[in-house]
Amino acid sequence: MRLDRFLTSQNAATRREAKELCRAGLVRVNGEPVRDASMNIDPAADMVLLRGVPVEFKEHLYVMLNKPQGVICATEDGRHQTVLDLVPPELYRRGMAPAGRLDIDTEGFVLLTDDGDFAHRMLSPKHHVPKTYQAVLEHPISSEEIKVFCGGIVLSDGTKCLPAQCRIVQEGDNPLAEVVLYEGKYHQIKRMFEAVGNHVERLKRIKIGGLELDPNLLPGECREMLHKECGLILGSNLSQK
Ligand code: URA
Repeated sequence: MRLDRFLTSQNAATRREAKELCRAGLVRVNGEPVRDASMNIDPAADMVLLRGVPVEFKEHLYVMLNKPQGVICATEDGRHQTVLDLVPPELYRRGMAPAGRLDIDTEGFVLLTDDGDFAHRMLSPKHHVPKTYQAVLEHPISSEEIKVFCGGIVLSDGTKCLPAQCRIVQEGDNPLAEVVLYEGKYHQIKRMFEAVGNHVERLKRIKIGGLELDPNLLPGECREMLHKECGLILGSNLSQK
């Protein structure tokens, strides 16, 4: 990989800055100053220092966002703020996109990455990555509804859902249920509850695979995910990469 491309891909400099920094002798590769930004390096093996500070090589970035209501899961939109607008420049990568969508009024865990292969494995029903949601409901949930969800509910338009898990978290005035899905159909949880005569008042995704949304992230905040957290999302599948 060209040195200037390496520096831009790691958010260390713009292409132009990379050229100037090299010319000024501020970039070293394996200890030697390199004045030609077009030089090829091996990002996995070579040690690049910028102003004496190592530039760590990360092939991809994985970001955990606590999506607030009113923001859409898209890379651009003329009317609404998008999840990418909430990613600070130092965590942004070219090609970054949300892995899957939450509705505009759904809150919670959205993963953004420039690793299309990872996103595909996280979303494909074939890989069975569970997504866990908390739903505030209009009516208390019955054990009959739970049974129907477990068996794979058929929605009003005839769409057949995969078996899901459902448990009651809170009864009373603001009934709260936790639902685990292994797929992501359009408005799925809202339509599942509509199909049994209930209504979702508020929805939040709290977990993807074995990884919970970081409780320290306020709505609208995000942070980089650790390698082991990516592993918790895909489970044992990560080691196959
Ligand atoms: N199910 C829904 O109805 N909406 C979402 O955003 C996610 C799951």
